[in-house]
Amino acid sequence: MAASTQLYPQDVALSKSLSDPTKFWAPEAHKLTWAKPPSCVLEESPVKDGRKYWKWFPNGEISTTYNCLTRHVNAGYGEQTAIIWDSPVTDTYNHRTSYAQLLKDVQVLAGVLRGMGVEKGSCVLVYMPMIPPALTAMYATSHLGAIHSVVFGGFAPAECAKRIASAQPEVILTASCGIEGGIGKRRVIPYLPLVREAVRLSEMKGKGCKLLVWQRPQHVEVLQNGEKDWKATMEAVQRRWSFMIDGVPVGSNDPLYTIYTSGTTGIPKGVVREAAGHAVGLNMQIKYLFGINAGDVIFTASDIGWVVGHSYIVYAPLLARATTVLFEGKPVGTPSADTFWRIVSDYQVNILFTAPTALRAIRREDPMGDIFFKKRNLRSLQGLFLAGERSEASVIELYQKLLSEFCAPGALVVDNWWSTESGSPITGIALGLDGPRIPINPGSAGKPMPGWDVRAVDDDGREVKRGEMGNIVLGMPLSPTGFRTLWRDDNRFKTGYLDRFNGAWLDTGDAGMVDEQGYVHIMSRTDDVINVAAHRFSTGSIEQAIMCHPLVAECCVIGMPDSLKGHVPFAFVHLNASAASIAPETLFSEINTLVRAQIGAIASLGGVIQGNRIIPKTRSGKILRRVVRELVENASSGNLDKTVGIPPTVEDAEVIERSKLVVKNYFSNRLQKAKL
Ligand code: COA
Ligand code: AMP
Repeated sequence: MAASTQLYPQDVALSKSLSDPTKFWAPEAHKLTWAKPPSCVLEESPVKDGRKYWKWFPNGEISTTYNCLTRHVNAGYGEQTAIIWDSPVTDTYNHRTSYAQLLKDVQVLAGVLRGMGVEKGSCVLVYMPMIPPALTAMYATSHLGAIHSVVFGGFAPAECAKRIASAQPEVILTASCGIEGGIGKRRVIPYLPLVREAVRLSEMKGKGCKLLVWQRPQHVEVLQNGEKDWKATMEAVQRRWSFMIDGVPVGSNDPLYTIYTSGTTGIPKGVVREAAGHAVGLNMQIKYLFGINAGDVIFTASDIGWVVGHSYIVYAPLLARATTVLFEGKPVGTPSADTFWRIVSDYQVNILFTAPTALRAIRREDPMGDIFFKKRNLRSLQGLFLAGERSEASVIELYQKLLSEFCAPGALVVDNWWSTESGSPITGIALGLDGPRIPINPGSAGKPMPGWDVRAVDDDGREVKRGEMGNIVLGMPLSPTGFRTLWRDDNRFKTGYLDRFNGAWLDTGDAGMVDEQGYVHIMSRTDDVINVAAHRFSTGSIEQAIMCHPLVAECCVIGMPDSLKGHVPFAFVHLNASAASIAPETLFSEINTLVRAQIGAIASLGGVIQGNRIIPKTRSGKILRRVVRELVENASSGNLDKTVGIPPTVEDAEVIERSKLVVKNYFSNRLQKAKL
């Protein structure tokens, strides 16, 4: 396990990609089919206003759908399985869609969308559960040269509305329902009332935004004006032969999709993913990092609403002509904590990609992991990839031991760090390179992937010594899958990512270190974003929801450590004068209902503390979140009396003392209740 200073093929590839990007990426670009080849690999413009500008593969034209589907079918692989859908919540297993069938569905749906007014450059919003038509929707949009924007099906109407308002979609693709919850909690969630409400809130209604609805047998919805039945419309298009055989290529730097992510404010940021960089970067990474080749099987247990789902459920597996497992269920409760391992064994999965929180949930039922590992044949499994949040060293060590005993020879646990903005892993351990792999270094997220220049810097942007904590930043240009701007908000890209270090580095919002051997350790966020079960939320948007409570005068949300989800949102509220008598349980329930209704159940609160003047601030009125966070972290782990540093900028140190006391009382009650 010991890390060494030896140079491994992964180190060599990184240094080549940074010192001569053209030499590194040109052969990668040649692996794809272009409608028009790019004029060069990388175009860098002179620094302007302290900002770097670059373009990957400029002046080229490419169709992502062509590269994921058409070229494989044309090459004679039409009968190969593209998607295996496994849906324990609907009792559906081993539902296979071939490359040829998927391409046909995409061509027909593209014909439907064209008939609904979608054309090159239009936006299509997708709000779907984890069913095969969701992938058809994304591919059909790209087949038309249009831009998709997938919104996670767990977001409440208000959050969805913000995304609709920003994307201004021509059409929204949705289903009649999603199916949630494990054993005893199973419930069908009708989607149409949520989507209709979101459209209403977004003020798109009346502006021609149409809905196409996939009716599921678990809940069939009566459609209203402007809403079309997906299957019936597909049949009509097929009868009329008005489907689209040929895809529409787009410019290399045109968007393939936008995906919204949380920032410091309540307004989500639309990350723009460019067509060519995305295709070239993912096609390289799926082989290089994941070791996935044509005919292999990858199971990414995420959701198409997140970037991990976009990259490793939808696009990368099919670029490589592999098979992707699409899973509609949970790691536990659908029906058991053995589900992931059943899937690996049933479909001979080569790579499983999930979030540490899912393993924590599974471990509650199989603490040493060996019950399920012994029960199943997992010899096909070559890698267990973990991302979305920090993996504790103990988790890596336990699963590495299990992989070594029960899975393919040389199988590794790979902690990989990345973000919506990066589009693909920034760090990890490459499984697909010839030659020795870098050794696992538990607690770190591996070493940088090609094209990513990762540094730890102090607050002035100066690189800190190896092994010292700092802000984790990226040198520019970013690797080809990385973003270059935000949807219709280039200024926010500059202010949100570049200004902090005067344009010299791109701020990732993460803190950590690069150690002596070049391994990257990601420890925490430096901004007001929290990770809940590997989902990213802005504390600002949760605060906005809480402020809608008529009794709340002020609030502050931070992440409270949680043994299952990593963190859960925790609120400090200062009530207005008329609220003196509300019981804490009632207040919690009312505030939590607001958060669930406005953001979604996935943002459910872990607790609320109320009091008068308990939110410490700086003299300029900024909430001292670090202090609040530290108080909660200490108390929730049983350190009720631990002192916190008082920043010199504090407006009133007594507020911190008061806050500490309320936190202490709250958590000692909570700990006592837990013991009973
Ligand atoms: N649609 C509607 N509601 C949803 C939803 C969706 N797509 N996804 C989650 N929810 C709801 C759940 O039903 C639950 O509602 P409830 O509070 O009324 O019961 C709530 O949101 C919280 O769900 P979840 O975060 O899934 O918590 P859980 O306790 O049900 O399960 C885990 C815990 C750890 C099993 C679960 O969080 C999990 O699978 N995490 C992995 C996440 C992941 O893979 N992320 C990948 C990002 S790379
Ligand atoms: P998202 O954009 O939702 O994918 O969230 C990205 C953020 O998740 C990163 O900026 C990190 O804060 C966190 N994250 C992702 N992967 C890891 C990892 N392997 N280790 C630690 N944090 C991670």
